[in-house]
Amino acid sequence: MSHHDHDDDVVTNTSANPHIMEIAEARFTRRQTLFGGLSATTAALFGSLSLAGCDDDDNEPATPPAEEPIPTPKLSFVPVPKSTADVLTVPDGYTAQVLYSLGDPIKEGVPAWADNGSETGASYVDRAGDHHDGMYFFGLAATGTAPDPKSSDRGILCMNHEALTTTYLHAAGETRVSGKRTVPDECIKEMNAHGVSVIEVKKNAAGKFAVNKGSLNRRITTFTEMELSGPVRGDSQVVTKFSTNGTKTRGTVNNCANGYTPWGTYLTCEENWAGYFARAADDNSKRTGDIAKQATSLARYGNAQGAAGRHLWETAGADDQFARWITGVTGDAATADYRNVINTFGFVVEIDPYDTTKTPKKRTALGRFAHEGCWPGPVKAGKPVVFYMGDDNRGDYIYKFVSTANWDPADANKADRMAVGDKYMDSGKLYVAKFNANGTGEWVELTFDKNGLNAASPNYPFANQADVCLNSRLAGDAVGATKMDRPEWGAVNPINGEVYLTLTNNSNRGSASQPVNAANPRNYDADTGSTSSSLNGNVNGHIIRWHEDGDSPAATTFEWDIYLFGSRSTYPADVNLSNLGANNDLSSPDGLWFDPRGVLWIQTDDGAYTDTTNCMMLAAAPGAVGDGGDITVAGQTTYKGKNPTSNDLRRFLVGPRDCEITGIAMTPDGKTMFVNIQHPGESGSLAAPLSHWPDGGVTRPRSSTVVVTRDDGGVIGI
Ligand code: FEO
Ligand code: CA
Ligand code: CA
Repeated sequence: MSHHDHDDDVVTNTSANPHIMEIAEARFTRRQTLFGGLSATTAALFGSLSLAGCDDDDNEPATPPAEEPIPTPKLSFVPVPKSTADVLTVPDGYTAQVLYSLGDPIKEGVPAWADNGSETGASYVDRAGDHHDGMYFFGLAATGTAPDPKSSDRGILCMNHEALTTTYLHAAGETRVSGKRTVPDECIKEMNAHGVSVIEVKKNAAGKFAVNKGSLNRRITTFTEMELSGPVRGDSQVVTKFSTNGTKTRGTVNNCANGYTPWGTYLTCEENWAGYFARAADDNSKRTGDIAKQATSLARYGNAQGAAGRHLWETAGADDQFARWITGVTGDAATADYRNVINTFGFVVEIDPYDTTKTPKKRTALGRFAHEGCWPGPVKAGKPVVFYMGDDNRGDYIYKFVSTANWDPADANKADRMAVGDKYMDSGKLYVAKFNANGTGEWVELTFDKNGLNAASPNYPFANQADVCLNSRLAGDAVGATKMDRPEWGAVNPINGEVYLTLTNNSNRGSASQPVNAANPRNYDADTGSTSSSLNGNVNGHIIRWHEDGDSPAATTFEWDIYLFGSRSTYPADVNLSNLGANNDLSSPDGLWFDPRGVLWIQTDDGAYTDTTNCMMLAAAPGAVGDGGDITVAGQTTYKGKNPTSNDLRRFLVGPRDCEITGIAMTPDGKTMFVNIQHPGESGSLAAPLSHWPDGGVTRPRSSTVVVTRDDGGVIGI
């Protein structure tokens, strides 16, 4: 999310666990073996061709075609220069067309965006939300609502609406009088402008994609009823006035990155949800039960006593729709107030894009934290389904989930997709990552009564698995997980199964509780040449990657190195460790995605290089873990991939002023790419917007999805 208006990381992990608990013995051998047995066929199971070959109406597993390795992609476009202009730049020979902007109608009969904030709050149930973020393309048959994973002409785009720039959403920004929201409809609009868009997109007669106002279009908002599923369902800690048996909640919020499943559903992830809840200054004294435990949990997730909600929704009236944002004791019992509502947020949420009647489910087995996204590992018949996840907070952790059920290819084509989700996402093991100093790593199981996660755990006594899932951060603290430089998006390389994950930046790296470690080795002062007054720690971020031992996504050990260090090309060699040049220097990698051909797309959400360039997207053809070597910087040894050249890492797109590039999807034919441009001009004012993109002139800036195509009709990037 944005670097300006809200920290992505309101809490600092101050737990006492050392950054490296155990240093495994030497005998460490670097390895370059490719992921044995992985092939184009297997890759198709987790690329955007996720259901390819399984689209018959019966439930027979598809016969896999002959296995062919995916060749290493070769980038073909001319790199785009850095820019601070208020335009979207793509390479020569490419075109970007705006598809879907804040306020655009998704249903017939809804008036167009008026560019003056006059739309009602209620109308946003049928309009594009704000701050477009993670996104996925689900193919549709030429007519009707049946899935067709091979379709490149018609599909459903699911996309997140992470947050708001209220400056441009309302007639004149947020109306606040004496610290209260006095225009309740503004708050309704804000609540409806969060969540997810599910929209049909279709090529028109001219061959250009447009939004089709079809029957599958729907908005998921902060009001949408959701099931709690998995270990937390029915737990006393999620009982609220809305759901007195703790099985439901309303809405999803701050949906940042995303994921998808091999059975055709969308995953949306709740990131900075904690800041939306208000809490009274004397809340602890009113609570009942184990108050110390509750206080520890609330503090670790960043909800302090006396906190006001991010948009003060709790002040807009006494109605339940406003009162439910107060996570404090206001009634006689948990069934009479919203003291527990905060425990119903912070999850991965599954949505069926093909069936509007299906209630979204919060998959609590995958833990509760500032979920950036959730990406499946390579899927193999007879093996568990694995999801990789990051907790975007300074010094927080990387996780994975391994299903109890083994993958049955017939499940790729079931009509009841949410029931398939129950099978693979409600039961399994949650792990947290430890990156050792010698380039190995281990996944530590977060299961109740294992690894000390029980009532005797010193900082937080765990009661059961629901308690572990609700307090994954505290479980990670207890087992000594490695504190990372803000884990953002992950991506899985279809060529070799290796997992990449962006660590966007960390201004706390180098502090007493977060000294450098091998996996987060940089701490430097980058004040020079920047618009910011103080840039310390790991200012420009890096991308870590790992290779699971035995080529098994469910393995409990791995080898890692750092694929790339972000930096200005002009920084000294002990900061610009990857030797980036003018065609490929970047800062604060955030969005990350491997397309099915093995091209890695890197998007930035940056505040450190903005005197020189707006945020951007690059394309890469990376190698493999171990293709570089060890280096030592300021006394810290780490492992670094082979330095990229502009042949295998180059800038593809630069966004308009004051935006973030986040969210990417592609049609199966590789010829259409969807990219989200979030919050252009967000730090400007209504009188002087910092951007007028995309509509130009004197219009308000709007978060938007763009469609990128090649003018000669060819495939993108290669
Ligand atoms: Fe919403 Fe971590 O970016
Ligand atoms: Ca992000
Ligand atoms: Ca970010």
